[in-house]
Amino acid sequence: MQNTSKPDKRFEGIAEAMLSDVEKEENIGLDEEFRSHLKEELIEKVKQHAEIKRRQAQERKKKEAKAGEVSFLRFGLNFRMQHLALAAGVIILIISGLPIKFHDTIVAKIFFELTGGITVSRIIHRIGATLLIIVSIWHLTYITLTKNGRSDFKQLLPTMKDFKDFLQNIRYFMGVTKEKPKFGRFSYVEKFDYWAVYWGMVIMILSGLLLWFNNFFLGVVPKFVFDIATEVHSDEAMLATLAIVIWHWYNVHFNPEVFPFNPTIFTGKISKTRMLRDHPLEYEQVTSNARERQTDKK
Ligand code: HEM
Repeated sequence: MQNTSKPDKRFEGIAEAMLSDVEKEENIGLDEEFRSHLKEELIEKVKQHAEIKRRQAQERKKKEAKAGEVSFLRFGLNFRMQHLALAAGVIILIISGLPIKFHDTIVAKIFFELTGGITVSRIIHRIGATLLIIVSIWHLTYITLTKNGRSDFKQLLPTMKDFKDFLQNIRYFMGVTKEKPKFGRFSYVEKFDYWAVYWGMVIMILSGLLLWFNNFFLGVVPKFVFDIATEVHSDEAMLATLAIVIWHWYNVHFNPEVFPFNPTIFTGKISKTRMLRDHPLEYEQVTSNARERQTDKK
């Protein structure tokens, strides 16, 4: 239990000094009962004031610490815009696609009532699909034609270290080792996320195009290909939705280490604390590159 006797004595001293000052200045002696009542009230007020001041100082310290902390640029504007467009496209596709899949449920019926029917959903779905196709072309251009894109893509390729990190993480979570794996720019979790989206986009776009232009494709490919595409599109949609809501959102926002929200994908910035915790190998590389550049200048 917290020991409160010392602060209480201090507050009592302050109240006593204030009352004595008033008595001296006004040259009066206060009635004993009235004086002790006044003193109790003063102690309470001084306590409340001290608590407010303590909280304000704490807030100020927190803000100063945040403002003074070095931050690193994790994602450039191009990368952030791609992510925003991808997120918007996928959310539109999920919201308009799932009611088509589960069209005879109550939720879907309410959705169609509110949005103007299944025909509207089909149109919205095609708008989302067009956005997704644009993002995929944009991303392919980014990873082939820009320096940052090429570098990010190389670092997103799976390596043996990812497999070792995965095993070590399991050992860490099971309490077998106290050492967490040290990640570079992208951990195996982030790489898995990236490749799941990459693979998912190829599947959804190809099968979606087949469904969209069914009249054309039914004359070109056998019917069973069309049937497979319909099944694949429908099942992969469920998988993608669950992967985003459970896997992706948990890892980037709901994980206790970042909860309730990780702003990096919007601001592009990552704090030194998070850099040291989540990407220590990248931190070492970035700081040693900066040191080398400084030595070169001298
Ligand atoms: C993350 C991306 C996507 C999700 C979550 C998604 C989801 C869905 C779902 C759940 C359905 C209903 C399937 C069923 O009836 O069982 C559907 C239908 C459809 N999707 Fe997608 N989809 C996505 C991407 C795309 C893309 C990229 C295209 C086109 C290039 C596309 C075109 C279509 C078409 C044409 C239909 C048939 C709709 C209709 O009945 O007219 N989808 N989608």
